[in-house]
Amino acid sequence: MTTEHLLMNTLHGKPTTRAPFWFMRQAGRYLPEYRQLRSQSNGFLNLCLNPKTASAITLQPIHRFNMDAAILFSDILIVPFGLGMEIDFVEGRGPVLDALKDSKSLSKLTQKNNWSRIQATYETVSKARESLRPDKALIGFAGAPWTVATYMIEGGTSRDHSKAKEWAYAQPNNFKTLIEILVESTIEHLSKQIDAGADVVMLFDSWAGALAPGQFDKWVISPTKEICRRVRNIHPKIKIIGFPRGAGAGYIKYSKETEIDAVGLDTSVSPIWAAAELEAPLVIQGNLDPVLLVAGGKGLQAATLKILDAFDRRPFIFNLGHGILPSTPPEHVAELSEFLGAYRKGG
Ligand code: CP3
Repeated sequence: MTTEHLLMNTLHGKPTTRAPFWFMRQAGRYLPEYRQLRSQSNGFLNLCLNPKTASAITLQPIHRFNMDAAILFSDILIVPFGLGMEIDFVEGRGPVLDALKDSKSLSKLTQKNNWSRIQATYETVSKARESLRPDKALIGFAGAPWTVATYMIEGGTSRDHSKAKEWAYAQPNNFKTLIEILVESTIEHLSKQIDAGADVVMLFDSWAGALAPGQFDKWVISPTKEICRRVRNIHPKIKIIGFPRGAGAGYIKYSKETEIDAVGLDTSVSPIWAAAELEAPLVIQGNLDPVLLVAGGKGLQAATLKILDAFDRRPFIFNLGHGILPSTPPEHVAELSEFLGAYRKGG
């Protein structure tokens, strides 16, 4: 059994025998043991806010597949919930929020001082850290401000984020206030997870690719940079992974300017391009197409090897380019995990 701290060593730029691996959305609906707890629960939010169930779900994929890291079971929308918004997760539709409308609804958002609603999250982090083997990392996370703002303005998942983009163009001052509220809340939320035992934190900017270049700088790069700087003021040694999904060529600027430690690549980025353009010591994470994990077979093997090959000579964390899909057969996850666990660098 390995006692090598693969994920943390990789993030610190130390050599490792193999690339560590974990999968975005590794705890979730593709797992029968998750579906069972979910069906007995009183809704997704209650599941997230109960430290006993949330820590058990955090560990479910590790027990089955032995990944090198667990990610806290929670959601990026827990921060708006902490700020006083009501959220419902509707089966087959996704999250539904009571959308922000104007500056009046902005001033209603509770700031910083009311974290009692989501306090249970930090207890989940401590519980999960206690139960996790010491050589496995626990990843804390938050949504990045732009992505969380889209949900708050659109009232849920939207196709083109036009309401959020319109706010940013037509009411830049109100939009800036919202982003500032989210920057402060995110710093506090991440910092509390680190206090509770998270080894590393990740910022999910799932809709980063929806912004035009100037807007990307303003609402993705600047807030991310501010969060990195301020979280490190409180926790100087913490490593931060950023995931600006869909950023395309913007990955270069994002990686240089935000001072992030590691960057998660989405499926649209070629590993060979990324290995050439994104310079070490930046750590790369990614980027197998989650649909290949549903399909399985030779295509899955070939794509996995291509990714491992491209990043063989640099600090790299194997992951997907987006979250595991609910239709993924757990057997495919088991096969891939066994393969990645046995793989050796330079081999
Ligand atoms: O295993 C893990 O990755 C940890 C937990 C986690 C969840 N959501 C659990 C979840 C994490 C890290 C997230 C992040 C998240 N949540 C993102 C960023 C990553 C991405 O996928 O782009 C976003 C955009 C959300 C918002 C969100 N939460 C949506 C759009 C949905 C509905 C669609 C869906 O995939 O179910 C959720 C619900 C959600 N979050 C579920 C889970 C396990 C399903 C809830 C259920 O059981 O009904």
